[in-house]
Amino acid sequence: MSPAEGPTPPQDSERARVGIIGWPVEHSRSPLIHNSWIDQLGLNAHYDKCPVSPDADFRGVLEVMMRVGFTGANVTIPHKENAFKAADRLDATAAKLGAVNTLHFKDGEIIGSNTDGAGFVAALDGAADAASWRNAPALILGAGGATRAILVALADAGVEDIRLTNRTRARAEPLLALVQDLPVRCEIIDWEARADAAQDCGLLVNTTSLGMHGAPSLDMDISGLRAGAVVNDIVYAPLTTELLRAARAADLIAVDGLGMLINQAALSFETWFGVRPPIDDLLRQRLIVDLGEK
Ligand code: ATR
Repeated sequence: MSPAEGPTPPQDSERARVGIIGWPVEHSRSPLIHNSWIDQLGLNAHYDKCPVSPDADFRGVLEVMMRVGFTGANVTIPHKENAFKAADRLDATAAKLGAVNTLHFKDGEIIGSNTDGAGFVAALDGAADAASWRNAPALILGAGGATRAILVALADAGVEDIRLTNRTRARAEPLLALVQDLPVRCEIIDWEARADAAQDCGLLVNTTSLGMHGAPSLDMDISGLRAGAVVNDIVYAPLTTELLRAARAADLIAVDGLGMLINQAALSFETWFGVRPPIDDLLRQRLIVDLGEK
């Protein structure tokens, strides 16, 4: 066999490209997560940061990405709605939420999906027995972008009683429409009544920015939660918020924000590469170091 007929090493042009589209994306941890999996699985691929300004022609950007060989991308602030509008096809969750966090470029088409909610539920399932939260009421604090995905995911997961509270009640009201066709009773609660609303809940989720580095702390009395309840803070900087500290002190199950971050990424990775990546403690430790939390 002449050298020309032998196996050729993969060329850079054959390397699958994926990345995260956002503005800013400088501080995104997604490259660390995805490139760790790419290395671990020995894939010929690379995950990049793709800064795209808010006023860019978003569909045009995606077409260029397809042309230069991208397999897909994650989408973050402020482009999740732009990605929803630009996609040729959507999965049911993205269609319902009006927001896309995962794009797959396949056979010349742009397919949009949303793995945020399923990633959130996977993080809960990785940390707690399903019975501890699925069969009890849940209380969600906040009404931002992440809240929408979490609300729908909890209803899809079978939670039948969801209480939603936000400082600005009017921002929470439109979220009810997202679950009106699902078998769930969802009620908006005044922010001041949040401690009462926590009575008998098996799950409390903080989706507000309260407790983040640089933000005021969250004032939340969790004494009404059920024994063995799950408390999830989607904040991951700091990793251990006051809320999670209080949950641990009360012998509840505390789930930090890395759970959702890693699990939504795993579902995007599977969309592009057809393989579910390993979620292990090493990756978590790398993220903790990268976040400067240790
Ligand atoms: P997102 O990116 O998820 O949309 P956001 O719009 O910044 O984030 O929303 C942050 C959440 O934290 C909101 O629910 C916000 O409440 P409002 O809708 O009333 O603004 C909540 N939040 C921020 N600061 C708060 C505070 N000091 N007290 C109570 N809630 C607060």
